[in-house]
Amino acid sequence: MPSASPADRPDIPWWKTAVFYQIYPRSFADGNGDGVGDLAGISGRLDHLADLGVDAVWLSPFYESPMRDFGYDISDHSAVDPVFGTLDDIDAVIDGLHERGLKLIVDFVPNHVSSDHPWFVEACSSVDSPKRDWFIWSDPAPDGGPPTNWTASFTEGSTWEFDEASGQYYLHLFLVEQPDVNWANPDLEQAQHDVLRFWLDRGVDGFRIDVINAIGKDPEPRDVPESMVGVAHVVLTHHDTVHPLIRGIRETVDAAGDTMIIGEVVTGDLELQASYQGNGDGVHCAVNFASVWAPWERDAWRLLIAGTEEAYGHAGDRWPSYVLSNHDNPRHRTRYGSEARARAAAVLLLTLRGTPFLYAGEELGLEDAVVPEDRIVDPGGRDGCRAPIPWTGDEGHGWGPHPWLPFPPDADVRNVQAQVAGEATMLELYRAVLAARRASPALQAGTLELLDLHPELISYRRVYDGDERVVHVSFSDDAVELDAVGTVVVTAAGASDGAFDGTLAAGNAVVLRP
Ligand code: NOJ
Repeated sequence: MPSASPADRPDIPWWKTAVFYQIYPRSFADGNGDGVGDLAGISGRLDHLADLGVDAVWLSPFYESPMRDFGYDISDHSAVDPVFGTLDDIDAVIDGLHERGLKLIVDFVPNHVSSDHPWFVEACSSVDSPKRDWFIWSDPAPDGGPPTNWTASFTEGSTWEFDEASGQYYLHLFLVEQPDVNWANPDLEQAQHDVLRFWLDRGVDGFRIDVINAIGKDPEPRDVPESMVGVAHVVLTHHDTVHPLIRGIRETVDAAGDTMIIGEVVTGDLELQASYQGNGDGVHCAVNFASVWAPWERDAWRLLIAGTEEAYGHAGDRWPSYVLSNHDNPRHRTRYGSEARARAAAVLLLTLRGTPFLYAGEELGLEDAVVPEDRIVDPGGRDGCRAPIPWTGDEGHGWGPHPWLPFPPDADVRNVQAQVAGEATMLELYRAVLAARRASPALQAGTLELLDLHPELISYRRVYDGDERVVHVSFSDDAVELDAVGTVVVTAAGASDGAFDGTLAAGNAVVLRP
C-alpha cells in the first residue's frame, strides 16, 4: 500500500503538491454590480474553488492603481484600489480561503511602480530628492537621444522617457507610466521588503513575483545588437545582480513561516528558468513559460517535458511548474482550437511532475472573447483572455449590466451554473482529474519516466513509493491500439472506470492505475 499522501508529509512542502488557481480580479466575479470584478465578488464564489478541488489561489494585483496596466502599475502598495474594495474585503478573501483549507499568494510587483506613486512623484521633484536614486536615471546620449537602444514592452518605443524638468531620462521597461525602480539602492530594497512584510502580516501565504528577472539591472547599461532592437527589453534581462536581491526577498518571506514565492521568470530557456531556483536562496518555483508558449503538437510537448525534466532534475531544491493560460496570453482553448484538445491538455497539465497553475475559466473551457476594437482597453491588447467569467446562464451571467469586457463565446452554456448541472462538462472533467490527482501520491509528487510507445502519443509513468499511474495523451486523429493494462482512473473524453480495453480514441487522454 502507498504511504501517506505526500500532502501530509512534512518533508514535502505544500506548494509542491498544490494546484494553484489564478484569479484576475477584474474578470472573476462582480460583487457590487458595477461590471468590474472585485474582492467581494471573489468572497462570494469561494465555494466554486473548494468544489473544484484546487489548493491555492494566486490573486493578481488589487492594489491602488491608476489602472494603465490594470493594477500592475501600483500607486500605493498597501492600499486596495476602490474598484476592488477595501482592506476589510481582502482580509475576508484571506480568511474565506483559509477557512476552506486553501492558501493565498498575491502578486508582488517589484520592478516598477505607477508614475503616480508618491515615490516617483518625490523622485521627480528634485535631483536632490532622497528618493531620486530609487529610480533609474541617465543623462542623454551625446546626440541628446535616449541613453541606449532598448525597446519597451507594449509601446514599441524606447525604454527611456525624457524628464524635461531635470534634463535626464528615466527607465521604464513597460509603459511610460511604469518607471522601473532601482533595487541597487538599499533604501528602496528595504521599502520593498516592508511591502512584503505588510502582506505577510495580513496572512498571505506567499507571492507571485512579477518579472523577477528584471529587477537586477546591468550596472553599465549598454546597447543591444541591432537585431534585438524592437524586442521588448524585459526578455533580455537576467543580469547576475538579480540573485542577491532574490536572496533578500527570500529571507524576508521565509521569516514569515510556511510561505512560498513563485517567480515570473520571462524566458523560454528552461535551464535559465530553472537556475532561478535552489539552495534556499532562489525562488521556490518559476513560471514555466515554455508551457504557455508551446503549440498543441506531440513533438513540441515531448521536447518540453523532457527539457523540463532535465532542467529541473529529480533532486535538490528544483521543482517544475506547468501552466497553459494566464491573463497575458490567449487562452489555450483558443490557441489549441478545440474542446477535445483542451480536455486532453487538462489531463496533461494535471498529471505532469510539477506544480500546475490553472487560469480561472479554463475549467469551463472558456475561449477568448472577441473584443471589438472600440472596446479594447489594454495597452498590450490582452483583452480577450480577460473576459468576465460567466457564472449563470441568463443574459447578465452574474455581472452588473455593463461588464467591462464582452463575455467569452457561448456563455449561455459555458458558465458555471450550466456546467454544475450538466453532464460530461469540462468542469466535471477538471473536478475528476483534480480528484484523481489528490488521491494519488504518484501524481502529486512521484517521479516521471517518459515512455516512447507511439509516435503520436505522449506517455509517462509516475511513481511514488508503492503508488503508480501511467498516463497516455493522444495527439492522433485516429484511434491508437495500446499494449497497456490497468484500471481507467479518468479519461479526457469523460470520467470512467473499469479495465482499459487497449484502445485510446482519437485525441483522448487516459490515466491508468496499473
Ligand atoms: C507581467 C504581468 O503578468 C503583466 O500583466 C504586466 O503587464 C507586466 N508584467 C508588467 O507588470
